[in-house]
Amino acid sequence: MNWKEEYKRKVSKPEEAIKDIHDGDCVVLGHAAAVPKVVPHAMAEHCEDYNDVLIFHMTTLGDNELLHPRCYGHFRHVSNFLSGNSRDAVNHLEGDFFPAYFHDVPGMIGDEIPCDVAVFQATPPNEEGYCSLGVSCDYALAAIRRARSVIIETNELMPFTYGNVMIHVSQIDHIIPCAYQLPELHSDAPSEVEMAIGRNCASLVVDGSTLQLGIGAIPNAVLNELTDKNDLGIHSEMFSDGVAELMKRGNINGSRKTLHKGKVVATFIMGSRELYDFADGNEDIELYPVDYTNDPIIIAQQYRMVSINSCLEVDLMGQVASESIGMRQYSGIGGQIDFIRGASMAREGRSIIAMPSTAAGGTISRIKPFLTPGSAVSTTRNDINYLVTEYGIARLKGRTLKHRAEDLIRIAHPDYRPMLIEEYERRFQCKYTE
Ligand code: COA
Repeated sequence: MNWKEEYKRKVSKPEEAIKDIHDGDCVVLGHAAAVPKVVPHAMAEHCEDYNDVLIFHMTTLGDNELLHPRCYGHFRHVSNFLSGNSRDAVNHLEGDFFPAYFHDVPGMIGDEIPCDVAVFQATPPNEEGYCSLGVSCDYALAAIRRARSVIIETNELMPFTYGNVMIHVSQIDHIIPCAYQLPELHSDAPSEVEMAIGRNCASLVVDGSTLQLGIGAIPNAVLNELTDKNDLGIHSEMFSDGVAELMKRGNINGSRKTLHKGKVVATFIMGSRELYDFADGNEDIELYPVDYTNDPIIIAQQYRMVSINSCLEVDLMGQVASESIGMRQYSGIGGQIDFIRGASMAREGRSIIAMPSTAAGGTISRIKPFLTPGSAVSTTRNDINYLVTEYGIARLKGRTLKHRAEDLIRIAHPDYRPMLIEEYERRFQCKYTE
């Protein structure tokens, strides 16, 4: 059948499409700035009709109505990465957290993560009937392949991106044409502390490096400090405004990358409308499924691979908690370990975890004798390489427990060094010397 006829036949109203969702089903939702909106709205409006429907999602940017308390009891949320708007629903009685490395998620869809219905966003079809997944590739293709029913919102304001992001009209069961603005993520100007961390991290980045930068204020602060570097490349999970700025300035050109020379590679794009417009039709940017971008074996092939991520706290052995504060799940591991392991195997590669030395307005040291009880260890003491704060750089890889503790105390906030020194002297039964 001609794809245009198929398209016409598949155009549905959201209320029609959601009749494919049955009690006990699992619905896999699109990610980050590509979280669908129209279908979740219809589901939320009809939530009384549903019982025990599981929703699997990761970062959900913008207003996701399925997370509203009125949907509790009808939709249960299971997530692999929490954001501000999903934290309550997932930490709620019926919700649950799904620990897994991001690169493993596509392979789990259809097995450990059931997928009865896939609800995603894409662009309207091109002249051959292909829709681009736009700003989020991630686990979409895996879900679309495994779902019993595929519902796609074809959003006219979704940027058309390249890489391995195409789905054909023939793969879709319900097409919901729409036009709405994508949610945006804007970052505040970096603080003095963040700028100092950015400078310390940038001092570890040499010309010709291929970078991965994580989520949060710190990766943005690092990007601001890279304006005197040349021939940088990007092989990352996320593509952000800061990366686009360095592309425009010419600092990022990908000329010395081992794989995908000259291209920026990521699995999702999240930031401002200007960023989405920059990505629209831009063949210098390629998105691939996360089981490719975050595969440590792929990452390891990049010469001078540098990963820069953030965390919540670290103990004196170098165990890093990045995703929970005690028992409270705060975010997820995302690609942190995927990239740390990949970078550590790469020729001249290095991995960096960067954080402010304190939290909660300076009332808590993030360098601690012990992690907060219940905190998940995201990066083990065997994986950690560089730990950076505004006070300096500690290279923990290849260091003994005693030396690690000394290096960490040196980059802790001065107010908390006496407490850490006391623990050092108790633990190692020897005097701490500067
Ligand atoms: N104890 C108590 N509270 C703490 C804390 C600690 N050790 N560390 C942080 N907090 C509080 C902060 O004060 C802040 O609270 P506020 O919002 O009331 O100010 C909040 O927790 C968030 O901390 P912050 O450092 O501002 O978070 P962030 O937005 O910079 O994100 C991570 C940092 C670690 C949560 C984020 O980078 C992450 O999820 N990382 C793991 C995944 C990853 O690395 N992915 C990489 C591939 S993209």
